[in-house]
Parts: sequence; C-alpha cells; structure tokens
Amino acid sequence: MDSDKRRVHVVTYGCQMNSHDSDRMLELLEPLGFEGTTDKLSADLVILNTCSVREKADQKLFSELGRLREWREEDPSRILAVGGCVAQGMGNDLLQRCRHLDLVFGTDQLAELPDMVSRISAHRVRVAATEWRKADEFDFLPIRPQRRMEGTHAFVKIMKGCNKFCTYCIVPYVKGRELYRPAKEIVDEVRLLVERHGIREVTLLGQTVTSYNLKNGKSGEPRFAELLLRVAEIEGLHRVRFMTGYPKDVHDDLLEAFRIQHKIQPYIHMPVQSGSDRILRMMNRGYRRATYLEKMAALRAARPGLSLTSDLIVGFPGETEDDFLQTISLMEEVRYDSVFSFAYSERPGTRAESFADSVPQAERRKRLVHLNAVQDRITRALLRECVGLTQEVLVLGPSARDPQMLRGRTPEHRMVNFVGEAQVGDLVQVDILEAGHHTLRGAQVVINAA
Ligand code: SAH
Ligand code: SF4
Ligand code: F3S
Repeated sequence: MDSDKRRVHVVTYGCQMNSHDSDRMLELLEPLGFEGTTDKLSADLVILNTCSVREKADQKLFSELGRLREWREEDPSRILAVGGCVAQGMGNDLLQRCRHLDLVFGTDQLAELPDMVSRISAHRVRVAATEWRKADEFDFLPIRPQRRMEGTHAFVKIMKGCNKFCTYCIVPYVKGRELYRPAKEIVDEVRLLVERHGIREVTLLGQTVTSYNLKNGKSGEPRFAELLLRVAEIEGLHRVRFMTGYPKDVHDDLLEAFRIQHKIQPYIHMPVQSGSDRILRMMNRGYRRATYLEKMAALRAARPGLSLTSDLIVGFPGETEDDFLQTISLMEEVRYDSVFSFAYSERPGTRAESFADSVPQAERRKRLVHLNAVQDRITRALLRECVGLTQEVLVLGPSARDPQMLRGRTPEHRMVNFVGEAQVGDLVQVDILEAGHHTLRGAQVVINAA
C-alpha cells in the first residue's frame, strides 16, 4: 500500500440513494489521496452515511458513534464525519451533542466534502454544513470515468429529493425538493458505463422516478417514459430497470414504453403502503386502492408476466383490524414477488406524528408477523410457478453458495443459481428446475452450434 495514501471507510445506512451517495463520496475523496478501506478501525477518515426513515435507523447511528469514540480519540489526526439524512435533520445539534465528531454534512453538501475534509485536516476545525443547494447549483456528480467498476449492473441517479410529503415520511425534509438530472447527462453516463465498464443492466434511481419532469420539468426535457426509451436505445445495454415508482404518476406513456421496448424489464418496485382507502387518504398518497389496482393491471396488460414488489406499512395511526385486512387482501390480489414491510414509526416533524389513535407497538408487531407470513406463501408460490419455464438470465458471476455454479437474474429480477458455462454479462437461456424459498435453481440450455 502507498504510504502517503490515507484511508477512508464509509458506513452506509438506508436506501439505494444513500449507497449511491456513498460511492460518490469515495470518488470525490480520491483526488485528495484517500483510498477506500473495508477495515474501519485502521481508517484515517470514517464517514457514517445515515438514514432517519424509521426510529431504529436513528438509534443505530448513536450506538455506532459511541463505538467509534475510542478510535477517534486514539489519534488526533483522525476524522469522524456524519453525512446523510440524520445529519441533514440534526445539523449543528449533532455536532454539539457528540464532542468527538468533526464533521456533519447534509444531503446537498456532497460536492463540498473534499474541501471540508481538507479544512479539517489543516486547521482541526469542527464543521456543520446543511444548507440546501439551489436548483442551478446542485451537482449530480457524474460517475468518474476512471473509477474501477465490478460486475455487470449499475445504478444511475436521475433525480434527487421528494415532493410528495406522505404524512408519515421524513424523506422530503431530509433530502429536500425534487430536482431532475438533465436527460443528456443521464444518457451519457449510461453510455459510458456500457462502453467503458461493460455494464449490461442499469437501474434508474430516485425516490419517485415516475415523477421525473412530470410537473416542474424544464421545457424540452423528457418525462420519465421518454427517458427510459432513450436509455434503452443505447447499444450494448441489455436491460433497464427503475426504482422507485410512484403509483399516482403512472400514465399511458409509461404503459406504451413497456409495450414497445423490451429492454425495459418486467419488474417494478411500486409501493402501495396500504390497501385501505381510509389509511391511504390519511397517508396523503394521492391514490385509492382501486386506482392502484387498475394501474397495476394496465401495466400487466402492457407487459404480461410483469412482476411487482412493494413497501407496506402496518400500524399507521388509526389503522383498524379491518384496514389491515384490506392490505392483506390487496397483497393476495396483486401477488407481489416480495415486499418490504415496516411497522409504522413516528418521525419528528411529520404530520402523522400528531395523528390520534396510535396503534400499540405490540399490535404493530403482530400485524407485521401476519403480513410477512402471507407474503412468504405468495413468494414461494410464484417461485414454484417458474419451475418448468426456460428463462433468459443475465449472468452476474459465480453462485455464492456453490462456486461451481453460476448466478444470474431473470427479467423479473428473480435470482437463479444454475449449472452452466457462460461469462459475466452474458444473456443465457436457463431451464428452471427447482424453486427454493427466495431463489431458483436451473441448468443452462447449451445450444451446440454444430
Ligand atoms: N419513495 C419511496 C419510499 C422511500 S422510504 C416511495 O414512496 O415508495 C422507503 C419505505 O420506508 C417507504 O416506502 C415506507 O414503506 C417506509 N417508511 C417511510 N416512512 C416510514 C415510517 N415513518 N414508518 C414506517 N415505515 C416508513
Ligand atoms: Fe416518503 Fe412519500 Fe416521498 Fe416516498 S413518496 S419518499 S414515502 S414522502
Ligand atoms: Fe433513509 Fe434518507 Fe433513504 S431517510 S430511506 S437514507 S432517503
């Protein structure tokens, strides 16, 4: 290892947007002579990239800060930094509360990270920076062309922030308003990933990607469906996905894109949150159960076999047993491939925090267990229905369990471990032979070109 190199370790909490930001942080710090390390305690700089979406996520930060106290105090040249959503929410308070912390930087401050780290190294100041950037000052930080990339899949950020203000959710407060990355920049980044890094599949990333340029977009900039089509046209790219879709903003142009462009994969993460109209209204989701179901049916008509996944909240204030059972019946109707399910968690500053009729914690946990049991049954049934099919699989690498086997994903994003002989990034046909709890097993169809 280069002796004048300094080492940085980033701990990421929360969603894909945060992982994406963590990658950008590592890239930004490279020109300062920092290289990433997986060994936290040997690092010169530790960054905790935080999440505040549920209370548990908050608590994780404080226990980690406690554990890092000794590391920080052992060597005065070390730097301890907190970024991400808790940093944005708490700002200077966090710096005051934790004396061994050097830097608190908000979610719009990524581009300034190298400067702040340099200042701290030189002058040992303590810094809190949580201002919002104006639209024309915000930097989406393109992936650096020279970075090393592994694998065949990449995330590409297309927007930041959220304007929806669901009553339970802290994200709009900690990530700020929606800003859309220019389409040309997105297309150029995907092209670079394909041409230089051999990426074959991209996931376009944002809190509500279907809102891209929908209301406040600049003139001449495409809406989401058009952006998908432009990205899909890139030669050498096999597959396009996106995350997360917002049901209210699904319109005919998206259905049409699914109809005409088969590089757009038949898999959408489209959270419903609840199956009860009463709760959906209190959540301010902007759609009703019936409209959600109609839109999902229309998407499945546009692309038969489309698989859907969802996020669900149980125990929202005022949720009765009957409301909860409506969520269960919606799950049975949609048949999600999988869901992320959460017990409602009160977040400071959100509207729902002051809603009456909070559901007892024990009841929230009980509903969560019930919901997860229903989903496990649906997930297993859907996997079993794949047995006997021959599916197109994008090869990701050797199987984690058995290195003699390969691992890849079907268009519906299901993981398959299979016997075969192919290269990473190949698209191959695989006979699905067996279904496990979460994954499939199969054998590659080898065509002898004799
Ligand atoms: N933008 C995405 C969600 C981002 S947050 C969307 O609207 O679909 C990820 C998930 O966390 C949400 O979908 C929701 O299910 C859950 N979540 C958000 N706030 C929560 C809270 N206060 N309590 C419990 N779960 C919450
Ligand atoms: Fe939160 Fe709603 Fe925005 Fe999703 S759409 S990030 S749940 S406010
Ligand atoms: Fe968490 Fe912030 Fe993502 S609160 S879920 S890391 S946007």
